[in-house]
Formats: sequence, structure tokens, C-alpha cells
Amino acid sequence: MVDSFEKIPVEIYPSAQDGSRYVAEEIARLIREKQQKKEKCVLGMATGGTPIYLDAELVRMHKEEGLSFKNVITFNLDEYYPIEKKAFQSYWSFMHRHLFDHIDIDPANIHIPDGSWPKEDVKKYCAAYEATFEEAGGIDLQILGIGLNGHIGFNEPGSSIISKTRLINLDNTTRIANTYEFENISKVPRLAITMGISTILKAKRILLMGWGQKSAIIARSVDGNVSEHVPASILQQHTDCTFVVD
Ligand code: PGA
Repeated sequence: MVDSFEKIPVEIYPSAQDGSRYVAEEIARLIREKQQKKEKCVLGMATGGTPIYLDAELVRMHKEEGLSFKNVITFNLDEYYPIEKKAFQSYWSFMHRHLFDHIDIDPANIHIPDGSWPKEDVKKYCAAYEATFEEAGGIDLQILGIGLNGHIGFNEPGSSIISKTRLINLDNTTRIANTYEFENISKVPRLAITMGISTILKAKRILLMGWGQKSAIIARSVDGNVSEHVPASILQQHTDCTFVVD
């Protein structure tokens, strides 16, 4: 545990929709800036209830404002394990349903941890996943949500600051929070693949979104000590991270 007097900048919006629009505008600006320089734009993407409005706004910008995603490469934070890509609850399905099926991104540029990797090879695949975005030049902008327990990605409390992409046991609180995606809690996978904390900290810019009931854990992450017990508090050590809240 490290004492920290650094605060994370927090942007407060009247609603999740307004906050999501702010995040979408920053993403669009970055994509266009990179397009002008004929560069790729590497985005780290999140799933769950939090980015729903963001995804919808990006789709709107594509359809109504001509925002192209042809120069965009994406890497998703996490995925349940085990799960088939085509399962309704997989994050692969979520991303396609909410975003990728509605924009002009090249499918070859989409990267999501695969919940059907054979267990004996998961370590190898996780290392390869991490190497792929390093080869792409690193993540320009990472989008994050936050769990009620302070997790980022599926880095549950206790995750080390040096953790990399790996298989992790989901906390019971996370499984309860995510039960709404499944028939009942017994159907929620007990494991997940997640980018590590060190992976997330390598992103050049981080935007964490948190709506409604996340306010207490956001306050602890921003104002409390940097602690592995509250993984999001470790973001205090990143030099270009902003929290966007309602
Ligand atoms: P939520 O989850 O977006 O479904 O609230 C966020 C998270 O657990 O990181």
C-alpha cells in the first residue's frame, strides 16, 4: 500500500448519456487525428452496462457524421472463461451486437480474448494477446468501466500492479453483479481472461467511466490510498487518466 496525494481528474456530467458523448468525442477526435497522419488508432475497449451509450454514440457518429473506423485497431479488456464466442453472453457477441456489426472496422483489426482457448494453452495465448498490442505500438486510448469492488477489466481486488493478461477467478460479488446477463448465478462463469493491471497502465491515455451506483467506489479510487485492494486506485499512478462520471 502506497500513500498518494495525487488526485485523478474527474469530469462530472448530468447523465451517463452526456458523459458517454464526451468520451465518444475524445475517441472520434483521436481517430480523425490519426487518419490525418495516416496512422492506425489503437483503442482498448470495455463491455458491460457502462459502455452501452458510448457504443451507441460511436455507431451514430459513424452513420450520421461519417466517422470511419478503417484505421482503428481494437483490443478488448476481458472475456468470460470458458465461453463460446457465439454465446449470447460472451463479450465477443456483446461487442459485435453493440458496436462492430454497425461500423466499418476491418474484422482483422478486432481483438478479443477467446473464452474457448484450451485450458492447457491459455497462458501461451494470453502472452500472445499481450504481444499483439505491443506489436501494434501499444494502446493509444483505453476505455474502462469499474466494478462495485473497484475492479478494472476483471482484475479483482488483490490483483498485482505487475499483473499481465491472464486467467483469473471472478469474485462472487462480480458474479452476482453480472447475473443479469445469465439465467441465474450458477450459469455465470467462475473464471475470466483479463488484461492485467500492468497492461492497462501501459495505455497512453485512459478514460474510466462510472455511472450511478459506482460513485462510492469511484470516490475511494480517486481519493483513497493506492492499494491493490481497490484496483482502480492504482490508476492514480498513470499520468494521463481521467474518470468520467454522472
Ligand atoms: P458494468 O461493469 O459496466 O456492467 O457496470 C463494469 C465492470 O465490472 O467493470
